Amino acid sequence: MLHREFGENRGAVRTAVTPASGMSSPAIEVEHLVKVFERRGRPPVRAVDGLSFSVAKGSIFGLLGPNGAGKTTTLRVLTTLTRPTGGRARVAGYDVVASALDVRRRIAVVIQEHAADLLLTVRDNLLSFGRFHGLARDVLRARAASVMERFGLVEHAGRKVQDLSGGFRRRVQVAKVLMVDTPLVFLDEFSTGMDPLLKRAVMDLLREASRAGRTIVLTTQVLTEAEELCDDILIINRGRQVARGDLHALKLLSEGVYEVSLTFDALPPEVEAEVAALGPLRVRTTGSTLQFSIKADERDVLALVNRLAARGHVRRVEVGGASLEDVFVELMSGGEDTR
Ligand SMILES: Nc1ncnc2c1ncn2[C@@H]1O[C@H](COP(=O)(O)OP(=O)(O)OP(=O)(O)O)[C@@H](O)[C@H]1O
Ligand SMILES: [Mg+2]
Repeated sequence: MLHREFGENRGAVRTAVTPASGMSSPAIEVEHLVKVFERRGRPPVRAVDGLSFSVAKGSIFGLLGPNGAGKTTTLRVLTTLTRPTGGRARVAGYDVVASALDVRRRIAVVIQEHAADLLLTVRDNLLSFGRFHGLARDVLRARAASVMERFGLVEHAGRKVQDLSGGFRRRVQVAKVLMVDTPLVFLDEFSTGMDPLLKRAVMDLLREASRAGRTIVLTTQVLTEAEELCDDILIINRGRQVARGDLHALKLLSEGVYEVSLTFDALPPEVEAEVAALGPLRVRTTGSTLQFSIKADERDVLALVNRLAARGHVRRVEVGGASLEDVFVELMSGGEDTR
């Protein structure tokens, strides 16, 4: 199994991404980072358990992993909200513990709402954030207006954030990071609660920001999001690295994994059980379409597809390579969290 290979030889897959600006130092450097939470009467949690990685300037870096993997904790350490228990992290060249204020001036963060922000209006949220980052008055007003326009917030400008729906609150948070030009942006599950149109617009804005040289670090549970956005991906589980690389490198990890989609006129009753018996990584039926991913030889996959197709009238067949989701499932299989 892949995850075992990685357990014994962590970091075997190196990123293929090179810094956009040649030899310049990375935007983030993390060495043997550890964060332990002590719990009364229970064993401590090693939320981050010896992570080392660096993030190239101007890249979009995705931190992925199942629930409880340590993504938010890692982000909280990098953004100076939590002190690490061990190891080191430098952001924009500054140590997150020794030079926390220098780090804060250079980052914009979407992690969680601060209670104080909820009491401010949408407009004041944007203005006070811009002020903290030293924007001049006229720039501040103009930026706030344009950001509210882009995020569909104009008609809510005068409302207190606490009175907005969850999706709109998220918009305000993400809008803030676009008020300023900090070299680094951190986003924890930015798309939660966003409708698809807005999500698309935000993804475009993030790409634009990265092209302009900003470094973006994001976590997400939506793998297609990472697949579309990230130049470089770190998959963690239980606070440790499971895999690291760009999408191409990660997909190589799951070589031999095929995604099959078969659409019948009417789904023959036995095909689902037939696929399930082969131990697929995933299987799903929607209407008369059967989709599954499976690790096998190409020839066996094609034979299987032929066999299944012979069970009924097939309207459409697709066989493709693995998606990031397949890689993820493959890496996590057997890695059940026992905490
Ligand atoms: N303040 C805390 N006190 C005790 N344990 C904590 C604390 N914060 C996080 N943990 C634990 O640390 C581990 C990692 O949590 P973290 O929130 O970083 O995971 P995550 O990858 O962000 O998960 P999710 O996908 O659910 O957001 C979990 O086991 C969690 O219960
Ligand atoms: Mg989290």
